[in-house]
Amino acid sequence: MRQEWAALIGSLRKGSYNRALYEVFRGLAPVEVRWREVNIGDLPFYNPDAEPDVWARQFWEEMQTADAFVFFTPEYNGSIPAVLKNAIDWASRDPHGSSLAGKPSVVLGASQGLFGTLRSQLHLRQILSFMDADLVQRPEVLVAEAHLKLKPPGQLNDPMAERLMRQLSENLYRRVGRLAAV
Ligand SMILES: Cc1cc2nc3c(=O)[nH]c(=O)nc-3n(C[C@H](O)[C@H](O)[C@H](O)COP(=O)(O)O)c2cc1C
Repeated sequence: MRQEWAALIGSLRKGSYNRALYEVFRGLAPVEVRWREVNIGDLPFYNPDAEPDVWARQFWEEMQTADAFVFFTPEYNGSIPAVLKNAIDWASRDPHGSSLAGKPSVVLGASQGLFGTLRSQLHLRQILSFMDADLVQRPEVLVAEAHLKLKPPGQLNDPMAERLMRQLSENLYRRVGRLAAV
């Protein structure tokens, strides 16, 4: 069954390890999956006073039409980067209703530290639960010491992480399929 998965990458950095992780994950996902990367870097800081501009409308549409969300988060000061939280806040204020509610979602992350986004993933999972996203929680994919294992644009030297990513993508694919069958 064809599925549309939207990737949200919490790093705007050229040469980002989380972007490299996205490229690896894309390669491991079922062939039926069509990918789109949501551009979160051009969203302004969310301000309820401001009229939504063309970026916001495009963002909302991209989010609404996705079958699933795949979040790639770095860890910034023990949490998720502001650019990712800003995108989630925008998603929650879609005039057609939050695109995250009930939508199958997974979280992956890479950092150069030893804990491999443990803290930022915990925060992100908490936020997504609050948003009522349909989180596929297992297996967890955390790539620690990313500078030793990931090579942009999309090479990973960590067989265990690769195995977990393949399993996670299969679990997400099945979750979307089950929802479509209901
Ligand atoms: C503002 C800032 C805060 C950071 N805080 C943490 C942190 O709390 N834990 C951690 O493991 N790495 C931290 N790092 C290092 C990031 O893990 C590292 O820069 C990583 O490569 C970012 O992901 P990216 O390569 O996808 O941009 C921080 C980096 C920045 C720029």
